[in-house]
Amino acid sequence: MRMSRYRDALVVVTGAGSGIGRQICLQLGRQGARVVLAGRRTARLQVVREEMARFGGSAVVAPCDVTDARQVLQWAESILKTAGAADVLINNAGRGAYGRFEQVSVEDHGAVIDTNLKGIIHTTHAMLPAMLERGEGQLVYVSSVLGQLPAPAHAVYGATKFAVNAFAESLRHELYGRGIDIVVAAPGLVDSEFAVASGRPAARFAKVPTKSATAAAADVVRAMEQRQHLAVNDRLSTAAIRLRRHAPRLFGWLYRQAFARLRDG
Ligand SMILES: NC(=O)c1ccc[n+]([C@@H]2O[C@H](COP(=O)([O-])OP(=O)(O)OC[C@H]3O[C@@H](n4cnc5c(N)ncnc54)[C@H](OP(=O)(O)O)[C@@H]3O)[C@@H](O)[C@H]2O)c1
Repeated sequence: MRMSRYRDALVVVTGAGSGIGRQICLQLGRQGARVVLAGRRTARLQVVREEMARFGGSAVVAPCDVTDARQVLQWAESILKTAGAADVLINNAGRGAYGRFEQVSVEDHGAVIDTNLKGIIHTTHAMLPAMLERGEGQLVYVSSVLGQLPAPAHAVYGATKFAVNAFAESLRHELYGRGIDIVVAAPGLVDSEFAVASGRPAARFAKVPTKSATAAAADVVRAMEQRQHLAVNDRLSTAAIRLRRHAPRLFGWLYRQAFARLRDG
């Protein structure tokens, strides 16, 4: 039997109450990790804790709004006091704001930046020092393929995910040799509450290949186990990223055709 790398590890997961985050918690919980469940909706986190208790998984609920820097520092201190230093921080909380740029409010665009970019800055500030003190830890960032494929109707969301990738890569260089592992996982389209929360019309995307949250979480866990720097786990996105790099004009034309078909479909 394969010994899990995460047995008894203290793993903090943001956005743990739904979608990919919930599945990451269940999968790492089954491997014997001690999971800290974070998110804003306490009731949702309690449901995940109960689900984990059913298979003997260890989880504590630690609600937190990642957009609030002060709250995040207090949250991290309380985790440190009650459960100890985190071995792994999984930055999964995120949201979008789907729509033509001029039709999305400046408040919604601000909330995307506050959650996806400021959120990871806040949590990393709060948890990295204790990892550096111990000389080990893993920082995981759930980005998106849109962090390498700028898309219509997702300008601000894509910008935040490009920023997530750049942030993680910068830290990887900066922290080299200090025992901190940095992993970025970049899912494609995933079936979760994300579409509704972001105002993305699910019906229009019905024909686009979509993964279950379970499969997307398995990709994240695999990327963590293999310490992948930037994990893209679907062939179409990998091909599109390559085409954008090597034949940007052709890529642009094909990409616009594809999105126009989605708009009209
Ligand atoms: N679904 C996709 O197609 C897709 C594709 C590529 C990448 N992703 C990325 O995958 C990650 C997870 O998304 P998902 O698909 O699993 O969607 P989801 O089910 O909507 O999960 C997002 C989670 O983030 C939490 N969250 C949102 N704002 C927060 C805040 N301010 N503070 C703390 N937690 C917050 C939400 O919980 P509360 O509301 O309770 O706080 C929710 O549990 C996101 O980073 C997303 O950008 C998703």
